[in-house]
Amino acid sequence: MFFPAADAAIRLKLIELYRKAGAALAENYLHLLTLKFVESRGQLGRSFMSTSFVLNGKSITLDADPNMPLLWAVREIAGLPGTKFGCGMALCGACTVQLDGQPIRSCVMPVSAVAGRNVTTIEGLQTQAAHEVQPAWIALQVPQCGYCQSGQVMSATALLEKNTTPTDADIDSAMSGNICRCATYSRIRAAIHSAAQSLKA
Ligand code: FES
Ligand code: FES
Repeated sequence: MFFPAADAAIRLKLIELYRKAGAALAENYLHLLTLKFVESRGQLGRSFMSTSFVLNGKSITLDADPNMPLLWAVREIAGLPGTKFGCGMALCGACTVQLDGQPIRSCVMPVSAVAGRNVTTIEGLQTQAAHEVQPAWIALQVPQCGYCQSGQVMSATALLEKNTTPTDADIDSAMSGNICRCATYSRIRAAIHSAAQSLKA
């Protein structure tokens, strides 16, 4: 099985495009590749393998190549674009979703690996921690360009779900895989402390 985003040459092309032209163009390029891929498979009369899992609290079955990264299944098939493409190599955290409550990089997770499991994206984040993180993010004006922020929020809420009194070191460790080109790190740390205070109140 082959999926465009799983091909090394295409990944390099995407990274080059991302660096030179920005994330939006890289996403558009992969969107077009995905459409072409799906169309060509349809013309060959082949069907994909179905993968069933729980997405944002609802059971779904996706007709997708098992090698398709979860990121593209979520964005292109399930139609949830809040999760972002950054590097495609598990290096930046823009694509962070939660798998059974743990933050994972959906750009390198084959959709077949989440069969029978619970996937949560930014669109479906409903935990108590999430209800405190979102107002804290707004109050402290964390987002700048905003591109990395859905991934940041997914990691921050996962941290607060298991640790409501995180130290600076806990926060730095939990958030170390989420890169922000706008360098909002100090605001992220302050917002997590603020959300933790609200959770205890
Ligand atoms: S897109 Fe960068 S870690 Fe997945
Ligand atoms: S807010 Fe711009 S990359 Fe993080």
